Amino acid sequence: MRRPRLENSPLLFAKGYGWLPDARRARGRRTVAVRLGGLPALGIQGPDAARFLYDEDHVHRSHAIPEPVRGTLFGKGAVHTLDGQEHRTRKAMFVSLLMDHDRIAPLVDSATAAWDAAVPGWVDRGEVVLFDEAAAVLTRAACDWAGVPLTDDEVPSVARDLTAMVDGFATGGPRHWRARRARGRRQAELSRLVADVRSGAVAVPGGSVVDVVARHRDADGERLDPHTAAVELLNVIRPTVAISWFLAFSGHALARWPQHGERLASAEPAFAEAWAHEVRRFYPFAPFIGGRAPREVEWDGERVPAHSMVLLDLYGQNHDPALWGDPYTFRPERFLDREIGAFELVPQGAGDPSTNHRCPGEQVTVAVLAALAVRLARLQADVPAQDLSISLRRIPAKPASGVVLRVRGTD
Ligand code: HEM
Repeated sequence: MRRPRLENSPLLFAKGYGWLPDARRARGRRTVAVRLGGLPALGIQGPDAARFLYDEDHVHRSHAIPEPVRGTLFGKGAVHTLDGQEHRTRKAMFVSLLMDHDRIAPLVDSATAAWDAAVPGWVDRGEVVLFDEAAAVLTRAACDWAGVPLTDDEVPSVARDLTAMVDGFATGGPRHWRARRARGRRQAELSRLVADVRSGAVAVPGGSVVDVVARHRDADGERLDPHTAAVELLNVIRPTVAISWFLAFSGHALARWPQHGERLASAEPAFAEAWAHEVRRFYPFAPFIGGRAPREVEWDGERVPAHSMVLLDLYGQNHDPALWGDPYTFRPERFLDREIGAFELVPQGAGDPSTNHRCPGEQVTVAVLAALAVRLARLQADVPAQDLSISLRRIPAKPASGVVLRVRGTD
């Protein structure tokens, strides 16, 4: 089956996050036929559309992810690309590692400890780039928590590689090749770690992420080959470090709307969590998710031919005025008095993460982001003149300056 080819998607590259919303506006319809990489695709949006996409009877994930995305962001053979029983068995491993409070709390503790240890260095250096510093803090925390051996000297280069894999997935040119080289290096290293753990040459804590992935058995009863085990280890560590995007966005929001700073710094748990939700809703990160119709299906009066793509517009749905009043206003309070439906807020997918492809790291993301955003708000820091613009044409989007801070201390 031919896979979609990203390089054949000039409109996506030209418009970025605006690609599907613009098509909807132009045609006055919420469901739009487009082309992705030379293949027909249907762009859909809304809670009912999300339900449609997550039904395995309508959309499959295998053969759906273009090679440039597998070769950088997810890795070959990743859980993202599996269907049916194979997916459920592999997914159960991630659920056991990531969706249990007793496992999330130590990661939050590692992240806050790494942040607190880093702050004096920021004061000494005077000016720091929040995105880079957050990535280093999260790399330290993620590796300690996961059981991946890492010296302090290695943190900056590993942080650079882990963020490069995310930064280069949806582009051609140097950013893309940097992402591929980064993945190659880190996969080779983690494959060796898995082989060494299995042979007993290296000991890691029992029950740690490395230990669980090394011992995991797939639906066929076989252990993961070291390459696939490394891919899945990276699928825990890389996105944990990618929370640095949301921290940079938090820095952007505090600079643009400083009126929220005091309440966030007060560490009121409900507000810190609401902050994390609003940052994930408001700012652009994952643009859309997609899969392929296994047979001809129909959605919203549109025919979806067998094997063509269906794309759920995450950015568009997170800014749908029917779901979010005043969607382009940053207002964390909107989440204080609101239950969030399973198919409404979709920065990390929708539905039930223990059975479908929804991100199993969502609780991790909210918990780590909330804890570190409170610390960010407590920094005594100035924001010097800089380019804080966020281009919606760049996927993944990021404040241009990375958010430069002059740190004087912390409350
Ligand atoms: C899947 C976004 C953090 C692990 C996904 C998906 C999205 C997403 C959009 C695809 C959902 C789908 O296809 O239905 C994000 C964003 C994050 C984040 C924006 C913020 C940094 C994390 C974290 C972890 C994680 C912290 C692990 C610690 C995964 C895994 C999958 C996934 C393993 C594949 C799930 C599957 O295919 O069943 N994420 N994620 N993510 N995410 Fe995240």
